[in-house]
Amino acid sequence: MTSLTGKKIIVVGGSSGIGFGVAAAALEHGAEVVIVGRSEDKLKATEERLGAGHVTGIAADVANEADVSRMFEQAGAFDHLVATAGTPPPNSPIGETDMDFVRGFVDGKLIGSVMLAKHAVRKLSKGGSMIFTSGINKDRPPVPGGAVVAAVAGSFSYFARALALELAPTRVNIVSPGWVDTEMWDEIVGEAKTGYFEQMGGRIPAGRIARPADIAPAYLYLMQNEFMTGETIHIDGGQRLV
Ligand SMILES: NC(=O)c1ccc[n+]([C@@H]2O[C@H](COP(=O)([O-])OP(=O)(O)OC[C@H]3O[C@@H](n4cnc5c(N)ncnc54)[C@H](OP(=O)(O)O)[C@@H]3O)[C@@H](O)[C@H]2O)c1
Repeated sequence: MTSLTGKKIIVVGGSSGIGFGVAAAALEHGAEVVIVGRSEDKLKATEERLGAGHVTGIAADVANEADVSRMFEQAGAFDHLVATAGTPPPNSPIGETDMDFVRGFVDGKLIGSVMLAKHAVRKLSKGGSMIFTSGINKDRPPVPGGAVVAAVAGSFSYFARALALELAPTRVNIVSPGWVDTEMWDEIVGEAKTGYFEQMGGRIPAGRIARPADIAPAYLYLMQNEFMTGETIHIDGGQRLV
């Protein structure tokens, strides 16, 4: 396993949730961290929360190619790209699908990841890696309303397998989390979150819903293990089993 001390890690989505957990854990391991998100205010607040020093915020929208290109120019040479950016998924029955909403979701998640990979290659150091984020909804899709998010999340494993071949020796991997208690859930279900989490937490083998700090070690492992590439790590407390 290689050390992360002194490595520069770009966490796209690092101003909240799972990405915040990765940024905090990488800082603890002595890395220099760049966090990326659309909101300048959120980035500033997160820089303060993480304790200024080795963390820098860059505002960029992954759905906008000019933004993505500028972000990598600003960040300079780096060692690992972590992408956790994403917005709440479509959740209506297929016959009631709002296509503009679907396109916005796919742009931010899948097309955004393609654009990150496209522009990352210019600045990624030798021995570096890229890690993208899929999720439990490809394995246990909510019914009804889960088809789009299942399709998008499911595509990531194949994206990583193909890119790992194309970009070798640069490594490309995926983390697939189960439910994680993040700000996204507040946006999706608001106060009903507690009930959802109690119910699902009681069913899954781990006995509770994950916190971002439970998920971050999977990203750190993929950065540090030089033999991991083209792989998807599921980290879901056994949620796929129930
Ligand atoms: N939480 C879960 O239970 C769970 C489970 C499985 C998979 N996932 C997946 O994991 C990813 C992260 O989820 P999370 O729960 O950590 O969400 P979150 O707390 O809402 O964080 C999302 C982060 O992405 C950024 N972001 C969103 N859209 C962006 C864009 N177009 N360009 C740049 N940055 C953008 C947000 O900042 P701005 O809003 O400022 O842009 C924020 O920093 C998502 O793709 C989600 O689908 C989550």
